[in-house]
Amino acid sequence: METALKDWDGEAIVVRYDRLTGAWIFIAVHSSRLGPATGGTRLKAYPDYQSALQDALRLAVGMTCKFAVHDFPRGGAKAVISTPGLLDRQSRRGLLLRYGTLIRQLNGMFYTGPDSGTSSEDMDVIAETGAPYVHSRTAARGGAGDSGLATSLGVFAAMQTTCERLFGGASLKGRRVLAQGAGSVGGRLIERLLADGAVVSFSDVDPNAIRRFRDERGLAFVPPEDVFDADCDIFAPCAMGNVLNRQTIPRLKCQAVVGAANNQIGAEGDAETLRERGILYAPDYVVNAGGALAITGMESLGWSSAQAEQEVRRIGDTLKRVFALADAEGITTEAAARRIAEARLQGWT
Ligand code: PHE
Repeated sequence: METALKDWDGEAIVVRYDRLTGAWIFIAVHSSRLGPATGGTRLKAYPDYQSALQDALRLAVGMTCKFAVHDFPRGGAKAVISTPGLLDRQSRRGLLLRYGTLIRQLNGMFYTGPDSGTSSEDMDVIAETGAPYVHSRTAARGGAGDSGLATSLGVFAAMQTTCERLFGGASLKGRRVLAQGAGSVGGRLIERLLADGAVVSFSDVDPNAIRRFRDERGLAFVPPEDVFDADCDIFAPCAMGNVLNRQTIPRLKCQAVVGAANNQIGAEGDAETLRERGILYAPDYVVNAGGALAITGMESLGWSSAQAEQEVRRIGDTLKRVFALADAEGITTEAAARRIAEARLQGWT
């Protein structure tokens, strides 16, 4: 753990142990170089506090790259709340209120929004004590609402760019897409894909998602243990991170990976392995920025919803630039995205 902390190149880490619930709160502020450090709040039960902290550190770096690659005036951060198992409604609410107070005390050092395990309704609660540093509240509370819709639109635009590159046309019609995760982003992505004529299969562990998409919509369901072996054109990780690693990459039978999950690449070197296998990887933070861009843009930069939608669609163009740079330099798409982000952070462009 000490090495992880020493190696991390961020600005600050705020730690709070919430005695009443036994939850750990870690706020990793990675960079405020391009603007106020902003990132979602992830809430789940981690096996130990070390893995929760590690996750926060990595996710915060991803947020810095995400805003930088899209030339958006925000810095990167992330909060992770690790709860001991499931909390009942009342204690969860108390935890979120105390977390909001902490954000308020930080006085603008950290802005947050939803992430896996939290919703716009949770942002309403956090904002009761944490305003004005809380994005993506419900419309009823004056926020821009759920970020999942914009995120799914950005992933879809990225898939169109990927299809253009692989098949010469941007349409998803007839393309076989496998969504790993059919939740708030994956579920909406699936709807968009179906509307465009894609052949969609999905995997999930949540019985509700399985009922909705397999039983009600008649989609092919891939059991979670088979998700890396299924034949498809595009594999779309839309759930957890670390899905592209030494164990899984050799099993993949897809032509491209384009999905919403954060931190898809397991370790350095895995992007290279994907490239060697001839699998086109659309870097996660390029693809999944839609929610953060749209919501933050509407709530703090005065964007209209039409403008937000236009900005989110531009994710497809940014991805085109990433692919082109990777080609020109003979590097991985991950390295290309990193180069563009770093150039912005250094003020070169
Ligand atoms: N979960 C979002 C992301 O990873 C974080 C976010 C959402 C930030 C909404 C701001 C507003 O990009």
